[in-house]
Amino acid sequence: MSRLLVENGTVVTPSGSARANVLVDGEHVAALLTPEAPLPGGGELRRIDAAGKLVVPGGIDVHTHMEMPFGGTFASDTFATGTRAAAWGGTTTIVDFAIQPRGRSPREGLETWMARADGSCAIDYGFHMILSDVTDEALKEMGGLVDDGVTSFKLFMAYPGVFYSDDGQILRAMQAAASCGATVMMHAENGIAIDVLVAQALARGSGEPRMHGATRPSVLEGEATHRAIVLAGVADCPLYIVHLSAMEALQEVTAARDAGRMVFAETCPQYLFLEDDVMARPDFEGAKYVCSPPIRPHGHGDALWRGLGSDDLSVVATDHCPFCFKEQKELGRGDFSKIPNGLPGVEHRMDLIFQGVLEGRITVERWVELTSSAPARLFGLYPRKGSLLPGADADIVIYDPGRTHTLSAQSHHMAVDYSAYEGLRVTGGVDVVVSRGTVVVEGGEFRGEEGHGRFVARTPFEGLEVPLHGRPGATKLAHQKEE
Ligand code: URP
Ligand code: ZN
Ligand code: ZN
Repeated sequence: MSRLLVENGTVVTPSGSARANVLVDGEHVAALLTPEAPLPGGGELRRIDAAGKLVVPGGIDVHTHMEMPFGGTFASDTFATGTRAAAWGGTTTIVDFAIQPRGRSPREGLETWMARADGSCAIDYGFHMILSDVTDEALKEMGGLVDDGVTSFKLFMAYPGVFYSDDGQILRAMQAAASCGATVMMHAENGIAIDVLVAQALARGSGEPRMHGATRPSVLEGEATHRAIVLAGVADCPLYIVHLSAMEALQEVTAARDAGRMVFAETCPQYLFLEDDVMARPDFEGAKYVCSPPIRPHGHGDALWRGLGSDDLSVVATDHCPFCFKEQKELGRGDFSKIPNGLPGVEHRMDLIFQGVLEGRITVERWVELTSSAPARLFGLYPRKGSLLPGADADIVIYDPGRTHTLSAQSHHMAVDYSAYEGLRVTGGVDVVVSRGTVVVEGGEFRGEEGHGRFVARTPFEGLEVPLHGRPGATKLAHQKEE
């Protein structure tokens, strides 16, 4: 077994930062040692000097869509290219979304996605399951999927006719989730109302990209978020709101969490760094920024940053779902409703959120929590992932807090022809990335390989014994109650 010592760095975890050395034995963290501690004996040892650098658990992005079918095309990153790009940016685990095909079973969807990822990934991966057809048969399958490590199910209040579930279907799925230890993830936008606004805009002849934002107002995200929280309360089911973008939705989540409810939410870098004027860029450039929920007007981003600082928001994920500008976003020229929805971002999450540390919006410990430890805890990966505890997978990032670089399609590694952050200069960058004890990025080179990444079976949501940031812990869950 080969051993690795990451020495002289500052180890950062959600509970604090300290000078320490990390000893890796094979695929696992063997020990966290004070700088003076003698090294336990053993075999061959490779040393990596992390002086002046931060040493953190590898990033965990719990919201990606590699090769996702959408609007007649597929997200442009495959599991091979997307996970390599993730590694470049310091992410060592993704949780992607398998999709139940309408009229078919969730299990069939999982098998399709497993086959796509198997042998392709540069880093470890897991799956959530998108329920796009909530039938009795689909509900019965949920327990078996949880047993196989797929412990979270995404439902959509948007996209009628595609992924949409009505309130009755949502309630039934939440009840089934509560009884088998699963978490429901919600795309919370009122899709029925949105479709009315979309049809009216198109009938007026307003087909340009900026209308995507205008027809999905933030109040319709707030309303759907409220409804999702109410339904989850009726079902006694843990709820995780995905890609939260609007202050109205944040208010609903905050109120629920203040009341001690098992409600969590993520936001994404695009909602923190971009504002809705990007969708009005000329020459159809606005299409690059079409995603759902849409990029919001000025003011929402600042509210979201505050939410990250106060733990009203628990996680930053990317919703990485790239479509090339030239060939794919083009599908919606003249009709914004046909623009494939989604933005690239899996490579830049750690760097972008680190800007929040430099700007004094969050602490460096909170940066680690939001990008690694909290998603691991909420999605059944902790402490194997998202920690540097002895026995954890040796997923480690050595991060240079002083390095500056510019985000650009010329230099990124995602398989997409534009960057949503073109020209943005950031401070902080990944130096070395270790995935299960293997160095996959070092010295500005990718050293990993396709197929190194393994499927990670996740455990059911067990509540949070140690509340994140002083919020009440979760109450006993339905599936844990005595019969
Ligand atoms: O626009 C987005 N978010 N595309 C990906 C699908 C989803 O709803 O997460
Ligand atoms: Zn969504
Ligand atoms: Zn998504």
